[in-house]
Amino acid sequence: MSYLERYDSIPTENLEDKVKVINQGVWTDWSGLFKELRENRPIFITPKFVLVSLFPDVQEVLSRSEFFSVRAFAPKMDPVFGPCMLARDNSDHNWREKSIMRSVLPLEDLPRVRKMAGEIAKSALDKSATNQKIEVVHDLAKFVPIRLCGDYFGFPGPDLDTMYRWAKTTQDDMFRNLTNDPKIHEASVQSSNEMRAYLTDLFEEKKFKETEKSTNFFTYLSQFFQPQTTEENYTAPGDVFTRLANLKFPPDIPFSKERIIAHMMIFLVGSIEGTAQVITQAIDQLLNRPEIFQKALEAAKANDDETFDKYVWEAVRFNPFSPFLVRFCEADYTLAAGTPRETIISRGSVVLAGVGSAMFDPAIVKDPDEFSIDRPQYNYMHFGYGSHTCGGEHIAGVVVPEVVKQILLRPGLKLLPGEEGKVKYQGYIPTRFVVGYDR
Ligand code: HEM
Repeated sequence: MSYLERYDSIPTENLEDKVKVINQGVWTDWSGLFKELRENRPIFITPKFVLVSLFPDVQEVLSRSEFFSVRAFAPKMDPVFGPCMLARDNSDHNWREKSIMRSVLPLEDLPRVRKMAGEIAKSALDKSATNQKIEVVHDLAKFVPIRLCGDYFGFPGPDLDTMYRWAKTTQDDMFRNLTNDPKIHEASVQSSNEMRAYLTDLFEEKKFKETEKSTNFFTYLSQFFQPQTTEENYTAPGDVFTRLANLKFPPDIPFSKERIIAHMMIFLVGSIEGTAQVITQAIDQLLNRPEIFQKALEAAKANDDETFDKYVWEAVRFNPFSPFLVRFCEADYTLAAGTPRETIISRGSVVLAGVGSAMFDPAIVKDPDEFSIDRPQYNYMHFGYGSHTCGGEHIAGVVVPEVVKQILLRPGLKLLPGEEGKVKYQGYIPTRFVVGYDR
């Protein structure tokens, strides 16, 4: 029986069992459930949440933040970061902080970031080469962004284990603590207190000292004779923390040390687990398609990043970062108005905007079940859509493919037989995946 047949066969008053059927699909077989919904009930109202499965409707939800807000994230995020842009809509806070963060994460950094990611990935692969296998999730896919957090963002942490713990405990509460377990929340707040103390000390080191200016007179003077920065003469200054710590704003633009420290924490929380998940899932998808794998490998060997990266992002479409994004409905809203599927979403509903499902909507994505590297960019929603589109999209956009490229280039890369060669998950999160390669 299909999900909808099972759902419809349960009497209306038996809400709990109805929800159970949908929950099972959402958490264990999102692609099967959403396929049925796209074909039969594209906007599906259940007693617990509303599932939205078609491309235009998902984009409509994600771009109408006055009706579909992110405020449900605030109770988990605010105690960690203070006011956070992912938990705020249409505020002056968003406007200001997003603009500042964009300017300290310029596109000109990307070649440098890609190179760094490649070097770190190579070092991890060299280290595991003696065993002729690597545990991808921890030793490669998390290791690279954790090290980049130090080398590029300027937040190395006291040691790697602490960084892994800070990244995991905060993510566990913000995105996976569906039962609101207070212990999980406390662990996240505890990590944020530790991070804040560490980053407050580091902030002082990152700040150029007034005394340095006066003692090193020539360095001080030279700043007045720098040619204007252009694409040609751009030289990356320091890490992102150093840039932030040395920004100067007039008093009517509030951007305090506390906000800078909050953004440094957001870098860690936002960049590790998601990047690791996507790297792991891309490698798995490619290894499970031998013909595609060979073509991707050819592009990698030819150093044709433009082509290679398309293989990676298409592979991720088959197992994306998040099959849906969660929004809270602030006021009654007619979704897909004027179409046969138009539906009123009631104020107070929790809406699951199926970005994963949208990337399989045949009305927009041609032959969605085929693996194709010829799709237009707009077919993909790996980094969300609308006003909360990922702030690190461009960084992850080069880090993920570069790490995948480095492992593909290892001779003899292969899936291991049996259970070891399969990705282990906790919910949607990969926890273990071992692959083999030659020494
Ligand atoms: C492959 C890696 C990554 C994936 C798949 C990813 C995905 C996403 C998605 C889907 C959202 C939107 C959430 C929503 O609308 O509910 C988001 C938001 C965000 N991401 Fe990422 N992300 C990744 C890496 C990063 C990195 C490296 C950074 C840090 C530089 C970052 C920082 C952020 C921030 C700050 C937001 C909130 C933006 C806002 O509310 O305006 N992410 N990310």
